Amino acid sequence: MNKTKIINEINELSQELHVHNYQYYVLDSPQIPDAEYDRLLRRLQNLEQENPELVKSDSPSQRVGGEPLAAFKQVAHALPMLSLDNAFDNDELAQFYRRLQERLKSTETIEFACEPKLDGIAVSLTYRNGVLAVGATRGDGSTGEDITQNVRTIGSIPLKLQGSGYPAVLEVRGEIYMPTAGFEAFNQAARDKGEKLFVNPRNAAAGSLRQLDSRLTAKRPLEMCAYSVGLVEGGELPDKHGAILQQLAQWGFRINSEMSIVQGIEGCIDYYQRLSDKRQQLAYEIDGIVFKVNELALQQTLGFVSRAPRWAIARKFPAQEETTHLQGVEFQVGRTGAITPVAKLQPVFVGGVTVSNATLHNEDEIERLDIRIGDTVIVRRAGDVIPKVVSVVESRRPSGAKPIIFPDRCPVCDSVIVQVTGEAIKRCTGAMFCRAQLTESIKHFASRKAMDIDGLGEKIVEQLVEQSLINTVADLYQLNHASVAKLERMGDKSATNLLNAIEVSKKTSLPRFIYALGIREVGEATARALANHFGDLAPLLTADEETLQTINDVGPVVAGFIVNFFANQSNLTLLEQCQSLGIHWPVIEIDTSKEAAPLVGLNYVLTGSLEKMTRDEAKEALQTLGAKVTGSVSKNTSVVVAGPGAGSKLAKAESLGIDILDEQAFIESLLQYGVTL
Ligand code: IVH
Repeated sequence: MNKTKIINEINELSQELHVHNYQYYVLDSPQIPDAEYDRLLRRLQNLEQENPELVKSDSPSQRVGGEPLAAFKQVAHALPMLSLDNAFDNDELAQFYRRLQERLKSTETIEFACEPKLDGIAVSLTYRNGVLAVGATRGDGSTGEDITQNVRTIGSIPLKLQGSGYPAVLEVRGEIYMPTAGFEAFNQAARDKGEKLFVNPRNAAAGSLRQLDSRLTAKRPLEMCAYSVGLVEGGELPDKHGAILQQLAQWGFRINSEMSIVQGIEGCIDYYQRLSDKRQQLAYEIDGIVFKVNELALQQTLGFVSRAPRWAIARKFPAQEETTHLQGVEFQVGRTGAITPVAKLQPVFVGGVTVSNATLHNEDEIERLDIRIGDTVIVRRAGDVIPKVVSVVESRRPSGAKPIIFPDRCPVCDSVIVQVTGEAIKRCTGAMFCRAQLTESIKHFASRKAMDIDGLGEKIVEQLVEQSLINTVADLYQLNHASVAKLERMGDKSATNLLNAIEVSKKTSLPRFIYALGIREVGEATARALANHFGDLAPLLTADEETLQTINDVGPVVAGFIVNFFANQSNLTLLEQCQSLGIHWPVIEIDTSKEAAPLVGLNYVLTGSLEKMTRDEAKEALQTLGAKVTGSVSKNTSVVVAGPGAGSKLAKAESLGIDILDEQAFIESLLQYGVTL
C-alpha cells in the first residue's frame, strides 16, 4: 500500500472511531456492536504500528494508555481553578440570593443554571485548534499536575472536538468521576482478588487518575462531565452559562442531563428538592447542587472573593460520610448462627440519621480495615443502605488502641464457633440450644411473610425465650393466657390478641410454612418453588438432592441445606408437633403443565394502591401462576397493574404501549385461572 493510501485509511478509521466513541461514551447510544468497534480499532493499531511516524496525539488508539511516567509534570493554570462557597440550608441559600441582589442593586428575579455537584475530581482540558493538548488536575488552584496521558483514556473526553466554530484555544473544565455501578463492580473484582478496596467512588476516581501508568487508568470505568470553561482565545462563546454548556455538548462533551435553568430563589429551592428526591436513583454520586448565575454579564459584575466566585454557590446535601470513634465491638449471633461483628460507635449524624452501630461484616473485614478499639473511623451511610465503617484514620490512632479479637466461643451460648473452609463467615454451633439463634428463628417464623403472627414482636419473643416459656416454634401454639399476660408491656387485652393471632396463623399456606422453617438459603421464592413442586410437606421431607436440583432456584448448595435440615431428627419431631398442634395448609395440586403456571415468562409490575388486596397478596397470586413481579417498568414488562395514585410507572407503561389493568380487571384475570383472593 502506498503512503497516501495508508494516511487516508488511518484518517477514515480515526474519524469513524471518534464518532462511535462519542455515541458510546457521551450519548450512551452505541450504533455498532463492541466487536466491530474492536475490529476497527485493531486495524488502526496495526496500521499505526507499521507506520509509527503517522501516529497522531488525537488518534483513537491513544485511549488505551502509554508508557508509564516517572512523575507528573506541573502545569500552571492560565486562569485559577476556583472553588465554591457552600450553603448548608435554605436560609444560607436565601442569604446568598440577597447578597446577589444587593451587589447587583436590583430586585429583578435572577436566572440560574442548576447542576448536580458531582463528587469526583476537577479537571482542566486544553484544546488547541480542536485537539486535546493538555489535561491537568486542579492542584492548589493555580498549579496542577499534567495528567494528559490519563485523561486520554477516558471515553467521554473528546480527543478532538466535533463540528466547527470552536476557539483556537479552549479550556474546558469539568469533573471526572466513577459511576456507582462501575465503582461497585471494580471493588467487587478487587475483593475477589484480595486487593485493596476503594472507600468511595470519589477516591476511586482520584486513585485512578493518579496512576503514572495510564494503561491502568484505561481499565477504570471513569467518565467526565463538563461544567464550565477556563481560558478562551481566538473565538467567542455564548453569553449565558447554560448556552455555553449546550455548545460544549455540540463539540462532543458530555454535560449533565439534569442541568436546568430556573428563575429566582424559589426555582433553586424547587430544583434542590427535586434532585434530593432523585439522588439515590442517579447513576453517580453527588454531594450537592451548584447554582450559577446564568448571565455572564452579571457574573462579571459580581466578580470573585478570594478563592470563590460570588455568582455561584454549592447547596450541600447532608454528608454521607463522617468521622467518629470506635468504642467497642459486639458480636451478634444471627438465625443461622452467623457471627457478625458490630461496631459500637460514638453516635454521629451521617446521611440524615444518628448512627451508633455499623456492621463490620466478618473477621476478614476486621483484618482488611486493620481496625482497633479507640480508633477514629470513617462511617458512611448512603441512602437507605446499612451504615458501614469504610476506613480507619490511622494517623489518629491513640497509643492504647486495642486489637479486636474474634471469639472462638459463642458469646450467647458458649458453644464452639466454626468456620467452613472457603466461607468468610464464622458460625455458632449451638443451633436451637443457643438462645440467640432460637430467638431469631422464632422472629423469622412469626414474620409477616412467614406465619404472619401479628403482635409477636422482638421484645415479646426475647422475653418468651428468656423465661423459657418457649423452646421451639411449636411451643408458641401451647402458650397460655396467664403466662403471656405477665410479660412486660403485655396486659390482659394484648395477651388475648396475641393468642388469637397465634391461633389464626395455624391456617396457612405451604409456601409460607416452608419459608417459616428458616432453612438456610430458602427464601420466599425458593419456598414457593418447593411447595409448587411437591404439593405437600411429606414428599419434600424425603426428596434427595438430585430431585431437589431439578427445581427452579435450587442449586447444589441449597439442595444440601434442605436435605440436611430434614435429616435432622429434632426438626422432624418439630414438624410433627406443629401439625399435631393444628398448623395446616391446603395441598397444592401438582400440575407441571402450562395450566399450573399459565403466566410463566410474563413480567408484572404493581403500582399505585390496591383496595381489595395487599400488594403482597397480589404478588403471591401472580408468582403462584408463574409470573415474575418486578419493581420497575421497562420494555420487558408484560402487564402493569395500576391502582389509584399510580404515577410515573403508569406513565412509562403508557408510553411503551404496555398492557395496563386496573384492580377490577386484574381480579377478573386471576379468576380466569381459578385464583380468588
Ligand atoms: S463549578 C467557579 N460545577 O466542586 C466554579 N463545580 O468546590 C467552579 N464540582 O472542585 C466550579 N460539580 O470540581 C462546578 N457542576 C459543577 C460541579 C463542580 C462538581 C466540584 C469542582 C470543584 C468543587 C468546587
